[in-house]
Parts: sequence; C-alpha cells; structure tokens
Amino acid sequence: MKQFENNNESIPTMKAIRLHEFGGPEVLRYEDAPLPELKPGEVLVRVHAVGINPPDWYLREGYKMLPPEWRPQMPFPIIPGSDVSGVVETVAPDVRGFSVGDEVFGMVRFPSFGESAAYAEYVAVPASDLAHKPAGINHVQAAATPMAGLTAWQFLIELGHDVQNPLQPERHHPVPLNGKTVLVNGAAGGVGHFAVQLAKLKGAHVIAVASGKHESFLRELGADDFIDYKKTPPEEVAHDIDLVVDTLGGPTTGRFLRTLKPGGALFPVFLGFSDAKEAAKRNITVSMTQVRSNGLQLAELGRLLDAGTVRVAIDSTFPLADAQKAHERAVHGHIQGKIVLTVA
Ligand SMILES: NC(=O)c1ccc[n+]([C@@H]2O[C@H](COP(=O)([O-])OP(=O)(O)OC[C@H]3O[C@@H](n4cnc5c(N)ncnc54)[C@H](OP(=O)(O)O)[C@@H]3O)[C@@H](O)[C@H]2O)c1
Repeated sequence: MKQFENNNESIPTMKAIRLHEFGGPEVLRYEDAPLPELKPGEVLVRVHAVGINPPDWYLREGYKMLPPEWRPQMPFPIIPGSDVSGVVETVAPDVRGFSVGDEVFGMVRFPSFGESAAYAEYVAVPASDLAHKPAGINHVQAAATPMAGLTAWQFLIELGHDVQNPLQPERHHPVPLNGKTVLVNGAAGGVGHFAVQLAKLKGAHVIAVASGKHESFLRELGADDFIDYKKTPPEEVAHDIDLVVDTLGGPTTGRFLRTLKPGGALFPVFLGFSDAKEAAKRNITVSMTQVRSNGLQLAELGRLLDAGTVRVAIDSTFPLADAQKAHERAVHGHIQGKIVLTVA
C-alpha cells in the first residue's frame, strides 16, 4: 500500500488493473488506484491470486455480445475481475466469522457490472461472499475456484438462493444424478471440469466432451467416457442421456435435445437456446441460471477441495501486471481448468 498526494490530501493507493475504455486485452492497464473503502458488512482482503473468468472479458469488451439496449452503463475507470484468494487485512466492525490474518477466498459481488474489482492488490468483499481458504490448497488454486466451481454447484447440486433469474422466469432446479448418465460439453474448461467431478461424485456415469488433448486429464477427473468433438459431433453418437450440461451453450445447444431421454434435462450454461418447441415435444426440461456469490456454498466446495475429493486444475498463471497476456491466453481458447493472476 502506498500513499499519493492529491490536493494536499494523502490517499492510500494500491496497484490494480484498470480499464479506461473498452476493447481488446491492450486496454487492461496496470497502474495506481485508490485503496477500496470498507463498508459495513465487508472485509478488506490483501489479494494473493485472482482467478479469471469469461465475464472479465465480456466486461473488458463492453458487453458487446449483448444488444446495445441491454449493455450496462458504467463509469471509468473500472477494475475488472471477481474471483480472489488472499488474507484478511481489515474487518468492518459488524462482521462476524472473519479475523485479520485469516486466509479467505470468494467471488466478489457477482453478478454486478464493474463493481467486483478483483484485479487488484486489495479488494473490499461482502463477508457473505467469502469462505475460509482450505489449508490443503494454495491461493492460486483457491482463486481459480469460485465462479467456475459455484456455477457447477448451483447448476448441479443446489441453487442456494431465491433471487429471480433474469434469464428465465422459472426457478432453476438441479436434477437427480445418482445412477444417471450425464454428458458435459466443454468438459475441460473452468465450469466443465468441476461439473464432471461433481456429477461423478453424486453417482452419475459421466461422458466428457472436449478436444482430444484433454482426454487423459478428464479421465483422471473421473469421466467414464470421452468424445473428441473435433473428430465426432457428440450429438451424433450420444444417446439415452439423462442430463446434458452444455458449458458452451449458445445457439447450437439445441442439437443436444436428440441425445436426451424423454424426461431428461438440458442445462445450457450460456444464453442462446431457442428450440423450446422441440424440447417440449421431446419432454425435455431446459433450464439455466446465473451464478451468484455464496460464501456458504464455497465453504462446502472448499471442504471437498481440502479432502482432495474435488480438484481444481490450473491452465496457466501470470503476474497481475501481465493481465493482458492472461487475456491473450484466454482468447487462444482450449483452456484446461483455470487461468490465474498472481499478486506479489
Ligand atoms: N450461467 C452462468 O452463471 C455462467 C457462469 C460462468 C460461466 N458461464 C459461461 O459458461 C461458459 C464456459 O465458461 P468457462 O469458464 O468454463 O470457460 P472456459 O474455461 O473458457 O472453457 C471453455 C471450454 O470449452 C472447450 N470448447 C471450446 N469449443 C468447444 C466445442 N465446440 N465443443 C466442446 N468444447 C469446446 C474449450 O476447450 P477445448 O476446445 O480444447 O475442448 C474449453 O476447455 C462461458 O460462455 C461463460 O460465459 C456462465
């Protein structure tokens, strides 16, 4: 933490990645920024590692995939990012359960637009978004977990909240997994590799779909069968599936309807499903949800990580100052697990 003089006032500062405009990875600037102010209910975390996620580049690009009227207006500069692991620096007087020096991890204020501010040396986090970091994993692994792990958890295990979903009118319901056949598309990515492990843990027979280089990785995580989508379109060979978790989602997700049993379910993790009539004809439930911060669920996931029952895979790490390179790595695709920024 440094101080700089502004109109004779001394303001504590930190290093952070900030956006002053939307665009490609080059708009991520490593620079001084004011230290966040702690509000009631919050914990100031000295960040050791930051997990990066697709919403970080949606924000960087100004949500250009949304219709212009849906794009949120946000004042610059913006600190992107949501997932952190670090050490508690300060605690607001009304906070219980966290003390100075505790190791913690969490997904900060998600969903929100530009208010999570995780690409920084310090971040102020609502205590309800945090969990204690399991001793058995390091800060890089812990920072890699929140959004991807909670997304898989809230789709497959427990939604954990009653907030109205802006993406669909009905509440999302996880479906029974024990003894069922579950296909995970995009299985090697952040959400996918947690979904494979959670489905397996709950007793499912898991079919993982990914490019061929991820086969041994996914089999080690528990996948029973593997489809290399570059050689074989999964919708042509998979059949009698109870649940498809399509982490890619989007307009092509409807191709999985024909792989499902009547009474089965399709969970697209990203927007774009448009075959509601076909789904109804086949008696398939199609449901999605938007992940929300949840420290209690993260603590449960943390126990599984601590025991080694669930693993988090690290694709690559970059120093915070090289966030541009981390985003360039993401643009390249074929991510195996998670990309993480380290903070000195
Ligand atoms: N609903 C929510 O709240 C929520 C929350 C988090 C994320 N998301 C969305 O979920 C999606 C996935 O997120 P993520 O963090 O898991 O992304 P990610 O880590 O980038 O993983 C994407 C994976 O998909 C694989 N892939 C790419 N093209 C494929 C294809 N045609 N068929 C099968 N696999 C393919 C990639 O590797 P290979 O091509 O090498 O197999 C990669 O491993 C994103 O669109 C994100 O916005 C939604």
